[in-house]
Amino acid sequence: MSNRTFTIIKPDATRKGNTGVILQMINDAGFRIAAMKMTKLSKEKAGEFYAVHAERPFYGELVEFMSSGTITAAVLEKDNAVEDFRKLIGATNPSEAADGTIRKLFAASIGENAVHGSDSNENALIEGDFFFSKLEQF
Ligand code: CMP
Repeated sequence: MSNRTFTIIKPDATRKGNTGVILQMINDAGFRIAAMKMTKLSKEKAGEFYAVHAERPFYGELVEFMSSGTITAAVLEKDNAVEDFRKLIGATNPSEAADGTIRKLFAASIGENAVHGSDSNENALIEGDFFFSKLEQF
């Protein structure tokens, strides 16, 4: 059992100045930040991160968007982290996201959906290790 998940505050949320308020919501929901950095993905790195979606019709758009600006990547710790974080951020498509969720509040569309959250313990580890060395995860 893992108690960690991984998140990205995406370029749309960064551009709108929502990084601080999203981090506050994450904090208020009881997550501890175990690693965090602001960075910008190259197209190549964005493609690598989302390689699992390479065959999807939206892959090109996703890579273009995720490499379009600054992001904040973070590893988060809490009991039941993956599931609880997915509840906090809401459905991938903001029009289906529950009231009060991060995507309902800050996402514009299914592509520009403010935040990423890992979908499994296994992917949380892989994704965290994509951005942070073991020495950078506390
Ligand atoms: P994320 O949680 O980062 O994981 C994969 C991303 O692909 C997802 O959020 C969406 O932003 C994006 N995505 C999923 N479906 C679509 C779609 N139909 N069109 C554009 N982007 C999509």
